Parts: sequence; C-alpha cells; structure tokens
Amino acid sequence: MTEEKMQGEFGWTGEIPTDAKERYSRLLLKIVQRKKQVDELIKMLEKDTNWLTDPASTRFHMSQKFGLLIHSVNVTEILLKLRETLASKISEESCVIAGLFHDLGKVGMPGKPYYLPNTDDWEIKYRGKKYVVNNSLPTVSVSVRSLYILSKFVPLLDEEVQAIVYHDGLFVESGKEILGKEEPLTLLLHWSDYWATKVIEDKKVPSSSKDYFDKI
Ligand SMILES: [Fe+2]
Ligand SMILES: [Fe+2]
Repeated sequence: MTEEKMQGEFGWTGEIPTDAKERYSRLLLKIVQRKKQVDELIKMLEKDTNWLTDPASTRFHMSQKFGLLIHSVNVTEILLKLRETLASKISEESCVIAGLFHDLGKVGMPGKPYYLPNTDDWEIKYRGKKYVVNNSLPTVSVSVRSLYILSKFVPLLDEEVQAIVYHDGLFVESGKEILGKEEPLTLLLHWSDYWATKVIEDKKVPSSSKDYFDKI
C-alpha cells in the first residue's frame, strides 16, 4: 500500500496509507447530525492518542502500523453494505459511528497507549508478536473503553451502545448477557467485524469449486 506525507484533516501530520485515509474521510462525511461532536473526538484522538497509527492487535489481525484505522474502515464499509441489504432503516450515521469506533478502546487512554512496540526480538521473530499490551493501564475490556471514550464526546443511541459493548458476540463470555436480546445493529456490527477480520484481513477469497461434482 502506498504511503505519503499528508496533513491530517484535524492537524495531524505524518505518514498514512492514502487509500485508508480516503476511505476514512469518505465515511466521516456520512456523519451529519453529530458531526460537531465527532470532530471534537477526532481532534482529541489525533492530538492525544495514536488513533491513526495504532495496530489492531499484538500479533493477530492487522498487527501493523495503521492497522486499527484500516480495520475500523473495513468493518464500517461491510456494515454499510449489510445495512443497505438488510436494514436500511438504521441510519448510515449510526453504522459509521458504531463501525469506526467499535475498537476505539485499543488506543488506550489519552497519553497512555494500549499497544506498545514489542522489544523482545525472539517474540517478534518466532511468534510474530510485534506489539505488547501496556500493563500500566488499568484492565478494562476494549469494548467498554471504546464506549467510555466515545461517549465522553458523542451522544449515543441505546442501540449504538449495545452494538459497541457487545460487538464480540459470543466469542467472549459477556456476550451471553444479551443472548437473544441483540439489536439488529449489534448483529450487523458483530458480523461485519468478524468478516473483516477473517475474510478481508486474512485475505481469504470467498468462492465455490465449480467442477467439484464433475470429479466425483
Ligand atoms: Fe473488537
Ligand atoms: Fe474489531
């Protein structure tokens, strides 16, 4: 992916993949009603966190510079496609806010990054673990921290709150708390997150064998 020096919309200067930046900016245009609040959030994120350059994990999906931004954009684009097909009454703004910021907690807290570069060469080489989690942060689940940071700036609908907090679905124990009571946005966000991680970011090509039945 090409990278170029460019001025962040909110004053951030540095290297960012052009493609990701464009897709991110395009998604932000869909936020109209709460634009002022989201602009304030982004200003803070660009000033006090590594939102634009953080990885999305220590060694799994998008464990790379800009990984969190690229993953958040991937999830949001899939979520908008699902919305269009299955649930057009959910606003695009809701999808963009829930999609872009569902993993916001991965930035850590202002001035205290959640991910730090791994300094253990053996782990990097043999385990592919390029980042470690910052132990100096109090332990709070990523999704709760996402909600905490986001809601300090942006008023949220109840459905957005549920979608963000429970976006991991039943992959985590807390998913059972809302079993059978998931809002449509929660289901769509969960599936978008999983599809982005397992198909788009793992580079799987969805396909069916055309000649399978001819061979048996
Ligand atoms: Fe997540
Ligand atoms: Fe995610």
